[in-house]
Amino acid sequence: MSSLATLIKDDSLSSTLRIGFVSLAACSIVGLAAYVGYRAAGPQNKTYALQNRHPESNEQIEKVLESLRLDDEKLRQIMQYLEKEMEDGLSPATHKNADVKMFPTYVRTIADGSETGQVLALDLGGTNFRVLLVTLLPQSRVELTSKIFVIPQSIMLGEGANLFRHLAECLLEFMRKENLSLTGPRYPLGFTFSFPCKQEGLASARLSTWTKGFTCSGVVNEDVVKLLQNAIDEKKINVQCVALVNDTVGTLMACAYKDPNTAIGLILGTGTNACYVEKLDKVGTWDGDYNEPKQVIINMEWGAFGNNGRLNYIRTKYDEEVDLSSVNPGKQVFEKMISGMYMGEIVRLIILDLMQQDLLFIGQRDGYGDYSTPLFTRGGFYTKFVSTVETDEGIAFANTRRVLEDMGIRNPTFDDCAIVQHICKNVSKRAARLAGAALAVLINRINKPNVTVGVDGSLYRYHPRFKRNMEKCMKTMVSKNIKFKLTLSDDGSGKGAALIAIVADRYQRSQLRSVSSFDESEDEQIRIQFQQQPPNPVPPIVKATNTITRTLP
Ligand code: GLC
Repeated sequence: MSSLATLIKDDSLSSTLRIGFVSLAACSIVGLAAYVGYRAAGPQNKTYALQNRHPESNEQIEKVLESLRLDDEKLRQIMQYLEKEMEDGLSPATHKNADVKMFPTYVRTIADGSETGQVLALDLGGTNFRVLLVTLLPQSRVELTSKIFVIPQSIMLGEGANLFRHLAECLLEFMRKENLSLTGPRYPLGFTFSFPCKQEGLASARLSTWTKGFTCSGVVNEDVVKLLQNAIDEKKINVQCVALVNDTVGTLMACAYKDPNTAIGLILGTGTNACYVEKLDKVGTWDGDYNEPKQVIINMEWGAFGNNGRLNYIRTKYDEEVDLSSVNPGKQVFEKMISGMYMGEIVRLIILDLMQQDLLFIGQRDGYGDYSTPLFTRGGFYTKFVSTVETDEGIAFANTRRVLEDMGIRNPTFDDCAIVQHICKNVSKRAARLAGAALAVLINRINKPNVTVGVDGSLYRYHPRFKRNMEKCMKTMVSKNIKFKLTLSDDGSGKGAALIAIVADRYQRSQLRSVSSFDESEDEQIRIQFQQQPPNPVPPIVKATNTITRTLP
């Protein structure tokens, strides 16, 4: 066997090897030159040359985002407008044309933690719908079992009758699963229906308009409790809806169960809205009695603030585009600048605008022939992405990078990430400042030394700095002699509806026992409903499966 040394000494072999080495070296040089040339002319290099590592000091980007900025002066102006709109909503002379409807809810007493009992609750307010079984135990303890059902688009946009049939079917399925008796005493039910309703009693409410993407036909101006009860009765389910509650009211109640200073309920989720405790003599539209307590919770429906054009001077072209492509153009103007249903879309439109102006994803634009990616799809940038992007701190941008890749952007650069985060921060900060200023109007109006605001909703819950931004703004706008507190009201729309239903149910049973002492009140309609049925004994308390027991926050 010849050794390597012997082989190399071999003349013919050494010349072959030499040629091989020379060719290899030549290929490497040509390859390297081609790569260097590609880098020099390539899109990535252009990216690094053009982009700015600090988006806030890039004048062109700042020019685009400037339209989102609201200084204190602008906010104070907005607060004055809101106050005026509130007065219009509360006064019988102007209520009809007012945007901010200020609906009295017929909920007058605030929970005090002593409520106990078991009720069912339905919670309809967005794309998900929940059925809950809530057991309120002594010392503010709550046992809760719930199941989420999806509301398909076809139902959201279809006939109202199908919507209520679907709700009743889900209720039946839940009761079967939880082994609730389907015969015998009727279970009281609280219905959290988070849409604008003109209440005519605790268990009677006419839908004034759909919001949040719903357009079911045959429901506007109808009594929603009746529609639900008919669907329940059709299925012969032993359940009686005893109260309809807006999610803001449920949130206020659930929070008041623990904190007696609670006077406001706020939702920052798919939609946004607030309710608060108002003195009866300020409510010109009140048609109930003036007994103690001389107060009522007002469901403001503040999402409609600006429908009359009052906020046009602060709206951006992105807000206008979001509005035009919604199912309710011209409606819910304030909500569309704040809430989760629209925030991600505003961010997406700004991203597209910056791309158009060659300020973002530079040099990559031509590569995006695929217009089916989420970036080019309406609603493709979810609001939860805004929270995810803003969670990134420092320069790694791990979350932002993941979000952008999910959106169809290959290899986003550091600068791309920094700019997208900057956009998100500006959009969410504007929303937080608008909500904060509106809350300040309520707190100043209530004018008590300590005011607690019960808050719920995915935007508030998951966004890393929404609360902080809101509080910062409120500190400037709330009168200096008032202390305020924002408290997360965990699952207010479920528990709050249950609380109200328990109080309503107890009240109805007591009325049945002493019909003679019933003086004409807003609850007459409830009395009639119950008079039609034999007075029921209380259903047995069931031990629910998968029960979560916890103390309210
Ligand atoms: C929408 C509804 C309102 C609800 C809010 C939050 O604004 O109109 O009733 O409270 O969303 O869910």
